[in-house]
Amino acid sequence: MPKFNNSVEAAYYLLNQSKMRFQGKVIGTLAATDPDLIAPNYQECFVRDFVPSAIVFLLDGQTEIIKNFLEVVLAIKDQQLVMAGHQRSLGLLPASFKVLKDANGNETIQADFGDRAIGRVAPVDSALWWMILLRAYCHTTEDYSLAHRDDFQECIRLVLELYLKESFETSPAMLVPDGSFMIDRRMGVYGHPLEIQALFYGMLLTAHELLIDSPENKSLRKMLHTRVQTLRSYVRIYYWLDIERLNEIHRLKTEEFGHEAVNVLNIYPEIIRDWVDGWLSDKSGYLVGNLGAGRMDFRVFTFGNLLSILFGLATDDESQKIMVLFEERWEELIGDMPVKIVYPAASGERWAWVTDKDPKNAPWSYHNGGNWPCLLWAFTAAAIATGREDLAKQAINIAGKRLTTDNWPEYYDGRKGTLVGRRANHHQTWTAASYIISHLLIQNPDGLKRFQSVMFKCY
Ligand code: GLC
Repeated sequence: MPKFNNSVEAAYYLLNQSKMRFQGKVIGTLAATDPDLIAPNYQECFVRDFVPSAIVFLLDGQTEIIKNFLEVVLAIKDQQLVMAGHQRSLGLLPASFKVLKDANGNETIQADFGDRAIGRVAPVDSALWWMILLRAYCHTTEDYSLAHRDDFQECIRLVLELYLKESFETSPAMLVPDGSFMIDRRMGVYGHPLEIQALFYGMLLTAHELLIDSPENKSLRKMLHTRVQTLRSYVRIYYWLDIERLNEIHRLKTEEFGHEAVNVLNIYPEIIRDWVDGWLSDKSGYLVGNLGAGRMDFRVFTFGNLLSILFGLATDDESQKIMVLFEERWEELIGDMPVKIVYPAASGERWAWVTDKDPKNAPWSYHNGGNWPCLLWAFTAAAIATGREDLAKQAINIAGKRLTTDNWPEYYDGRKGTLVGRRANHHQTWTAASYIISHLLIQNPDGLKRFQSVMFKCY
């Protein structure tokens, strides 16, 4: 790496190095540019990893890159392999893609729909992010013609068909398998994980804005409008946890039959995890990680909470209380590197059954309680949106002190995120992009306004 005057310059260098080109055009960013990459697929462009890169490009006026990316994803969506006995679900968008070059220098793009990924996990979040980025692009360029193009309208409809399709729903929340989003390994995140609900909510609002108001789209637009409302009320009521709600859960009646039941999910008070008692103050709260029949996952999944603030899925009061939780539990949730992905880690017997003994997800490592600097952008944005610039600044300072010296790792380990992740890549692109966004937001009020309107204003 060349010598840089500051960490922001170093981060920009990494971001530029990561640009993926196809026929001379930049179409995305590689997940990492570490010369000693541990896993080969980090040389691909992941849809979710591209989001922070895209935000930087949008803020810097390099909008063409986002257009290229959106078009590429659309073009390769038909590459999906179909399992025998199944039909292709056309609304599923790829997890990642790479550029292949043949002996004559001809380039092609190869998509991965999870069929090449470790554990064969389905990328449920990809289409959600794709649509959110589409809106961000249109809003920045003040030109909605891309979203209004026939092929884009068709893709929006296909995504909605898949994501609104009835399966075995018993609530407005969306049901997904394990590992279908950023946490793409087995971590007990099947069912109705918060992060997916927040993204789903953001996508529904986006789709309502992008889908042309035509007779053909009438019933779809009506349906998604209603789903936005039912999903929002459901999350705000049932996922929310503060002292008052904890008291209610502590004394819940169970085994209730019929439509008048109060404890509709039949949550047993015994489910309350030991660590929760005494952890919340009367000023803090958060949205729990997952919810289902007889199930409440009390773990704090920070990204889902931050996205809920940014998309307006959490109420203003809830958003304030979530930021107070970060403030009061700073050592646990931010510590030596923002931001802890989930708190607390599953350990012992619980680790064994939650992860099925995955050594990469050992307690306080990787997805199981590691600290991920790529989440800094969402933390900074949510802190600023709730009037807590003080927290945003503190987090950026902590990150800035270490990221360059530690060579931009993918994640950190330990209760406080003190150790560079055992199997972390260096030169991780979304670590660098996230740092740049946070810096732009805090340094430049203009950038902040543009960012809020580009990414989240309609929410
Ligand atoms: C890991 C992360 C996933 C990310 C990928 C590439 O698998 O869990 O969220 O997209 O690495 O960085």
